[in-house]
Amino acid sequence: MKILVINGPNLNMLGIREPDIYGKQDFAALEAFIRQAAEECGTEVELFQSNHEGAIVDKIQWAYGTMDGIVINPAAYTHTSVAILDALKAVGLPAVEVHLSDVNAREEFRHISYAGMACEKSFIGMGFEGYRAAIQYLTGKQR
Ligand code: DQA
Repeated sequence: MKILVINGPNLNMLGIREPDIYGKQDFAALEAFIRQAAEECGTEVELFQSNHEGAIVDKIQWAYGTMDGIVINPAAYTHTSVAILDALKAVGLPAVEVHLSDVNAREEFRHISYAGMACEKSFIGMGFEGYRAAIQYLTGKQR
């Protein structure tokens, strides 16, 4: 199985960015965590991070016919991007949404998730563990 893991804008600033909300570990630590979780689940992962909405749309389209599932933390685009929602719907791959923080306990504008409307599951407010749960969910479906 091959899973594409997408991280959206400003997640490359982990460790520096609002550590009270997102933690002190940096983005390299998150990527290492995801690779480790994938290995534990016996699945291949492709990691992608971008600060650009169109680049994320392009990567989702690239996954069609190449990948078996998508884990996505669209970051701020979660709450604004119909284009990412439409791309996830277009490729029709099983998708899971992840957020490090508990978006539902934060500002109201973070309560809406467009991408989530195309996802089978959401793991929210679990920190790095949410990515492991998402990979486990997708690989579990395969078995
Ligand atoms: C986030 C939550 C979003 O509201 C925010 O814009 C992010 C990160 C999270 O992982 O908690 O950039 O997706």
